[in-house]
Amino acid sequence: QTRIINIDKKDIDIEQLMYGAEILKNGGTVIFPTETVYGLGANALDEKAVKKIFEAKGRPSDNPLIIHIAKAEDINDLITDLPQKSKELIDKFWPGPLTLIFKKSSIVPKIVTGGLDTVAIRIPAHPIARLLIELAEVPVAAPSANLSGKPSPTKGQHVIDDLKGRVDAIICGGDTTVGVESTVLDITSDIPMILRPGGVTKEELEKVVGRVDVDPALQKSEGIEIVPKSPGMKYTHYSPNADVILISGKLNDVINNIKKIRANKENEGYKVGIMATDETKDKYEGGTIISVGSRSKLESVAANLFKTLREFDKKNVDIILSETFEEKGLGQAIMNRLIKAAGYNVLRV
Ligand code: TXA
Ligand code: MG
Repeated sequence: QTRIINIDKKDIDIEQLMYGAEILKNGGTVIFPTETVYGLGANALDEKAVKKIFEAKGRPSDNPLIIHIAKAEDINDLITDLPQKSKELIDKFWPGPLTLIFKKSSIVPKIVTGGLDTVAIRIPAHPIARLLIELAEVPVAAPSANLSGKPSPTKGQHVIDDLKGRVDAIICGGDTTVGVESTVLDITSDIPMILRPGGVTKEELEKVVGRVDVDPALQKSEGIEIVPKSPGMKYTHYSPNADVILISGKLNDVINNIKKIRANKENEGYKVGIMATDETKDKYEGGTIISVGSRSKLESVAANLFKTLREFDKKNVDIILSETFEEKGLGQAIMNRLIKAAGYNVLRV
């Protein structure tokens, strides 16, 4: 039995939230909204509780979890040292969509870190998430609250669709605002390295700590296999039921190719979806056209991305033809998710 708790983030009902906090304290699982995507939480220091997360999601056990804390001093018990660079990053970006990788202390169970001796930690910038963690009085391990492989959830309804019946409680608190997950940044070596692009951009990080590298495995192109440093990055991700094909090139060429491919695929009997943008959606004529947001406001594309992939599934399309974005700023996180959703199926025109 999953208890559904509706909470207004602008007027939080503490008693309702306390119910969720009690479940966390007692070793249960609670789904809650964060500013990025919904998370599936359990007490990070309770091995049995953490195991329930992996079971509910169907998640491979070597894929480590992020620990969510309510305030910066809660980090001290979880790590062995706090590098100078991390202090600056914490000051600037916490609470917010930045996850930092530290050397873990002995109280963090191996099940949380997938056997690694490092641990991922962040403070979410969502009033429900932070208050829930504070009330629970435990650090909360939480992956995105989707079934493993599916697009991450950005609405309460996504979570209900995926995980109702598989967790103890779901806190519905409206749509998440950032829409893509946190940036995962490894600061255990001299030059910080982005293991997963996300809500905080490389450019923003570099303003605070200077040079930042990106895990070379993220720039994988066809035929070249590099094992990513972040275990989660090697798995199938964000996959709607439909096949996704990305079309990349000059925008006009992209539009023309999408039109052609749509016509061909429809002739072959497929139902075709087109992931367009506000600027381009009127240029297409047939197919199931959904705008994912505005090219001039990538925040809107990030916010709508996972929701849009799920909408195509609801409309039962067989193929999604998607436009692409320049890999700058938030465009890095957006393209990373799109490329994974497409299983690296990118047509360059
Ligand atoms: O925005 C987010 O980060 C959301 C919300 C709920 O906070 N959480 C999230 O968790 O996206 P998840 O489990 O879906 O993704 C965590 C990512 C995975 O790619 C995982 O491999 C990586 O972080 N990760 C966790 N611990 C790590 C570690 N010690 N070293 C390297 N990568 C790690
Ligand atoms: Mg995830």
